[in-house]
Order: sequence, then C-alpha cells, then structure tokens
Amino acid sequence: MRHFISVNQLTVEEIYSILETAEAYRNQKVTLNNQLFAANIFFEPSTRTKMSFIVAQKKLGMEVLDFHSESSSVRKGESLYDTAKTFESIGSNLLIIRHQSDSWFEELDSRISIPVINAGAGKEEHPTQCMLDLMTIHQEYGSINGLKVVIVGDIKHSRVARSNALALHRLGAEVYLSAAPGFEDEELDFPYISIDQAVEICDVVMLLRIQHERHLHKAESTDYLELYGLTKERERKMKNHAIILHPAPINRGVEIDTDLVECCRSRIFKQMENGVYVRMAIMMNVLNEWGIIDENNFKEYKALAVNR
Ligand code: CP
Repeated sequence: MRHFISVNQLTVEEIYSILETAEAYRNQKVTLNNQLFAANIFFEPSTRTKMSFIVAQKKLGMEVLDFHSESSSVRKGESLYDTAKTFESIGSNLLIIRHQSDSWFEELDSRISIPVINAGAGKEEHPTQCMLDLMTIHQEYGSINGLKVVIVGDIKHSRVARSNALALHRLGAEVYLSAAPGFEDEELDFPYISIDQAVEICDVVMLLRIQHERHLHKAESTDYLELYGLTKERERKMKNHAIILHPAPINRGVEIDTDLVECCRSRIFKQMENGVYVRMAIMMNVLNEWGIIDENNFKEYKALAVNR
C-alpha cells in the first residue's frame, strides 16, 4: 500500500486521472458514507496547504483532527514517529504531515499502518502543491506536453521547484530554471536562463519565494526584483497567452511587483482554489488504495470524472 510522498511515484496516467477527478469535484458534492478521521500534523507554518486540506476534508465529510506542534507533546520531546503512532492509535484513518526534515518520511515508512500524505518535506518535495500547479497549467492550456515552463527564484531551497521540475519534465514540458547567483541547485539537471530570456520564450512563469527560513545567511539583495524578479516591464514582454504562477506566500515587491500579483495573467489565487479539489482527489485515491473507503462509494465518485 502506498503513502503519497512524491509525484514521482505516480504514472503519467495516474497524474492525469487525479487532475480529471479534481476537476469533477469542483462542481459535484462528494461525501464519504463512512466516518473517517483525518489528522493534519504540521511542524512548519502553513496557511494554504493546511487550510485547503481542512476544507477538502470537510467537503468529503471527514472529521478533522487539528494539531499544533507548539502546544503538543512535541514540546516534551515526543518524536515525529511517536506523534504519528499516537494518531494511528486513537483512530485516525489518514495523516497529513509537513515537517522541516527533507526525509522525515523515512522515520515512518513501513512502521505506520494508515496512509500518510506529504504536505511538505524540508526543501525536498511538496507533491500536493505540484499537483495543484499541474492542474492550473492543464486548465489553461489543455495539455502540458510541449509547453515551455520556467521556475524562477530560490531553486536551491525550494521543495516546490524540485517537485515541479521533475513532474513537468515527465509530462513533456520544456523546463527551464532561473536563479540569482547562489540560488541555483546543481542536483536539478535543467538549463538555466535569465529572467529576461524567460519572459520572452515561456508559456508559464512560475515564481518562487525566497526561503529565508532555510538559509544559513541572509542572502537577499535590495535590488532583487530589478535584477531577478518579475517587474512590470518584464511582464509586458511575456507572450500574449503566458501565465504567472506562484505557490505563495508571496514576498510582494521582492520576487514579483505587487501590482502583478492580481493582474490578468496571474493564476496565483486560482492555484489556491485548485488546491482544495486536487487534495480531495488525492485523499480519495489514497483512501481507496488502502481499502479504507467503501469501494462503491469510490466508484460512484470516480464516475463523475469519466462522465464530466
Ligand atoms: N504554498 C504553500 O505551501 O503555502 P503554505 O506554506 O501557506 O501552506
């Protein structure tokens, strides 16, 4: 049985199936017919991921167990494994985990007997963010194959960059990276281009926040926006149909001019909206694989995507 830790574990067909299911859930009421508990265990701050998981869980009719590490027994030294095992013991059917470690999942892996969904692992992976980004791009263009996509910003410290670059490449996109000196990541084998080149050739400009919390030294120049970010002048050079993505939270005036955050090319708030539906689809898939939800219940909702 599989936990959902990386988009890499999905086949291309499975990725598209989740995107289609998520689209179907936008307009359909989908409620599970058995009582299920989902625990949201976040060791790092989150607004979008945590809240959209909660909305997704409530839309599916699940009971939501909230967890605040600062007021939990983690403060007494309890480990991630013991925290997860506790939720399993008290009847949680699903764990959603975000943790600052790149490899927190290794501590749980085969020792946990309920499904786990990765809501962010250090600077390594953010697979549900990646899936909502893919959904937003797919909505725009109807296909991902052949698109030119540039990921711009603090590549070195970004789990969003890593998840997206690999998944977009597998889906046939031409992936480029653009970063200020020191923000490049040698482990990602994609061509680097300047932001000025990027805006002229790319269909999707995916901006990233500078991940100050993962830096050993403060590394932001006061003219970052002018040198490496999306200014209004650069936006005017983008292709007519090109769109702007950003996982948020946004450093307004740093990686993007504040006036562009809600401009007509921006899909930033659409990404957040899509996050609810893609997380519903991912949770349903995982619960179905584990045999936790009623098979007929799952098939009924799967049919929504097919008959859309
Ligand atoms: N995009 C994203 O992961 O946002 P949060 O940190 O607010 O969850």
